[in-house]
Amino acid sequence: GAAVEADISGLKPGEKMTVEWRGKPVWILRRTPEQVAELPKLDAQLADPKSLRNPSEFTPEYARNDGRSIKPEFLVVVGICTHLGCSPSDKFTPGPQPSLPNDWEGGFLCPCHGSTFDMAGRVFKNKPAPDNLPVPPHMYLSDTRLLIG
Ligand code: FES
Repeated sequence: GAAVEADISGLKPGEKMTVEWRGKPVWILRRTPEQVAELPKLDAQLADPKSLRNPSEFTPEYARNDGRSIKPEFLVVVGICTHLGCSPSDKFTPGPQPSLPNDWEGGFLCPCHGSTFDMAGRVFKNKPAPDNLPVPPHMYLSDTRLLIG
């Protein structure tokens, strides 16, 4: 499949954009400093905080860190739930959702069976989704141009 280039120059902190790659939605999220700081604190609540499961399928070597990213600010993941393939929705701020962890600072919520993911696409414990959201192969061509694939 062809690689896809994304211009991320217009993406503001806290914003997400979607590009299509191999027929799949790839999310590019620019995290705020607060969101980046939150990531290491969530490990105990996550099913696979260090992305050790099937790393060759889900997490390229350069993304095996707390943020699952090359640059801490930017998350690049395939926006398809690893349970049965639904599309999770954005849940960037904590809200009145009884099924969510109390101190959850946001991330993604799958509407099909309630799996929740943090701002690095890491799945929370005791959810149907078995794995973190896949990080596709990607690289930066410049500060504002990202190549996916
Ligand atoms: Fe996402 Fe089942 S498809 S929780």
